[in-house]
Amino acid sequence: MEPEDARISVLDRGFLYGDSIYEVARVYNGVPFALEAHLERFYASGERIGFALPWSRNELRNVIKETLEAAAATDAYLRVIATRGCGPLDLAPQAAIDPQLIVMALAPTVPSKETYERGRSAWTVSVRRNLKRAIDPQAKTGNYMNNVLAVADARRHGADEAIMLDVEGRVAEGSSANVWALIDGVWVTPPLEVGILGGITRHTLLSICGTAKVAAEERMIWPEDLAAASEVCICSSMREIVPIVLLNGKPIGTGNVGRNVARLHELYRAEVSAQTKSW
Ligand SMILES: Cc1ncc(COP(=O)(O)O)c(C=O)c1O
Repeated sequence: MEPEDARISVLDRGFLYGDSIYEVARVYNGVPFALEAHLERFYASGERIGFALPWSRNELRNVIKETLEAAAATDAYLRVIATRGCGPLDLAPQAAIDPQLIVMALAPTVPSKETYERGRSAWTVSVRRNLKRAIDPQAKTGNYMNNVLAVADARRHGADEAIMLDVEGRVAEGSSANVWALIDGVWVTPPLEVGILGGITRHTLLSICGTAKVAAEERMIWPEDLAAASEVCICSSMREIVPIVLLNGKPIGTGNVGRNVARLHELYRAEVSAQTKSW
């Protein structure tokens, strides 16, 4: 159906409490990139919040395929949401009796060519990333207030993107992307222990770098390391690899998009194209 005809109850716990989980994958050539990794993270997010999804992997795969076909989606934004559904008004998840599955295939909003060529600005926001022991960032839930506040703070400072720190002041991630810094010729990304979402794009990049013999590792990054890096980028499924050329109003490296980030993006696109030839 058309998105405007889709209905969900105002008593749905996803709406009331953000008691839901979701995935976003980018569809290329009618094929969602890294779908299996997304499905795996979907179930893992459910487990992290004690939500045992009642649908099999095969059922999910089929309904996704059906939706993409019905939408005649070639290049698309695919969003899969599972909410714990409705029940008596009670915070306890045991009250949820009616889990809902929503699959959306929408026109993609992706960065322009110019964004990749010129890069974006970022701001180290004052909003800290959720504590792992409060709302674990590794669970991709519908509760995005932490990220909404982060991006609002970045925009207030005139920057495009937010860089969030953890409670100790270490670099965590963007509001909806993982962060990379080229430090002494090595691409460094914060480890999962800092309390971040285990991004599929981040994981893909670590693996591509291994194969292409591009030095890359997971290591703690402090804000001063990020400011002193020769190149910085953020990555996510929809936006792929976006160069950051201005941080807190100061240029990163030369202030232009570096050749290393451009190379990383090329490698990523080659991987995407190899993996999205068919289902
Ligand atoms: C908080 C956060 N970190 C990182 C990412 C990137 O994850 P992925 O590469 O799986 O799209 C996202 C994507 O939405 C996100 O919301």
